[in-house]
Amino acid sequence: MPIYEWLFPFIRPLPTELAHQLGHWTLRLPVSWGGSPPQDPFTWKGVRFRNRVGIAAGFDKNAAVLPGIARMGVGFVEVGTILTEPWGGNPKPRMSRLPGERAVWNRLGFTSDGLEPVAERLRGFRERDRSGLVIACNIAPHPRTVKTAGEDPNFLDRAREELACLARGLHAEADLIVVNLSSPNTRGLRDLLYGPGFRDELIEPLGEEIGALDAAAGRAGRTPLLVKLPPEDADGKPWTPDSIAACAEPLSAPGACDGFVAVNTSIGLARDRSLSPDPQLPGGLSGAPLRPLAVAGVKMLAELRREDQLLIGVGGVDRPEDAVALHRAGADLVEVYTGMIYHGPGFPADCARALAEAG
Ligand SMILES: Cc1cc2nc3c(=O)[nH]c(=O)nc-3n(C[C@H](O)[C@H](O)[C@H](O)COP(=O)(O)O)c2cc1C
Repeated sequence: MPIYEWLFPFIRPLPTELAHQLGHWTLRLPVSWGGSPPQDPFTWKGVRFRNRVGIAAGFDKNAAVLPGIARMGVGFVEVGTILTEPWGGNPKPRMSRLPGERAVWNRLGFTSDGLEPVAERLRGFRERDRSGLVIACNIAPHPRTVKTAGEDPNFLDRAREELACLARGLHAEADLIVVNLSSPNTRGLRDLLYGPGFRDELIEPLGEEIGALDAAAGRAGRTPLLVKLPPEDADGKPWTPDSIAACAEPLSAPGACDGFVAVNTSIGLARDRSLSPDPQLPGGLSGAPLRPLAVAGVKMLAELRREDQLLIGVGGVDRPEDAVALHRAGADLVEVYTGMIYHGPGFPADCARALAEAG
């Protein structure tokens, strides 16, 4: 019997955060969770992925279990969200499982060890790793800064400087950089994404900073910069072709960003289920119920992106066929998170195998 199936009955009754920590602990065991890594190489802008499946942001926020993730046989991982300074997140209760729906509700709100220790761990991993695991660093402005939006006239300058600082600290270890302005769990964060001018005020300057770092390091081309999008508009309603275009089309202008990760967790689905004790902070729902929103969002983005932009699909992959459906909708690569909570650490490699077979 696979070791995870043996452990799962003991993990399942535990509180969700504790189960997550135990899951991390089991990943430290020297086990090849997914069998031999599925080989389905994909190369984009000089970045070579051994296969098309990765682990979504939020699973390894602090680069704590990268060797275990490499042993899962995936092609890549999004580490983070990484903040400049440590942050403890929102008060509990802030995470629970909905096994009947194979979903997870969370309003963690960026628990982070902060830039320095995370960069140090990434350096250590890079020195030792021989797996070729691609690393995307997922970054965001600090919740303390986001909180001052609307009060502090220099707020955007500070958010911009924080993103630049994260890029400087992580650049040497990052194959890709992802900006996350779509987490529902830091009040005011998504407003940055929907608000006017965020491309000019935040994304373009970050791209310029990354370009300067690449030039100084003698790297050919710019380290790709992606933007992570939510599954819904500012009111928590699923995207329509018009609402997603208003958000993503400016980012598809030449020089803006190099691609998208779609989608983050859903406020709308969390609200429908009244899962949060605080109506001001409804949290986000992930897992199987998110799948239709993720597939629809990826389809719409595939229509409006520039041809050379990368599209990573994520949301509701609960069976290997779901990964294939996201790929068919237009995603070049697919990420998994909640599905792994229910199906174990061998699940992402099963998805990668299904994608390799689907061609
Ligand atoms: C507990 C938890 C924490 C998460 N934390 C982050 C995060 O820090 N940054 C981020 O960009 N996305 C985060 N996400 C969102 C996931 O990366 C992903 O977009 C979402 O869960 C949908 O995929 P899934 O249905 O396969 O879980 C988190 C998700 C969960 C369930």
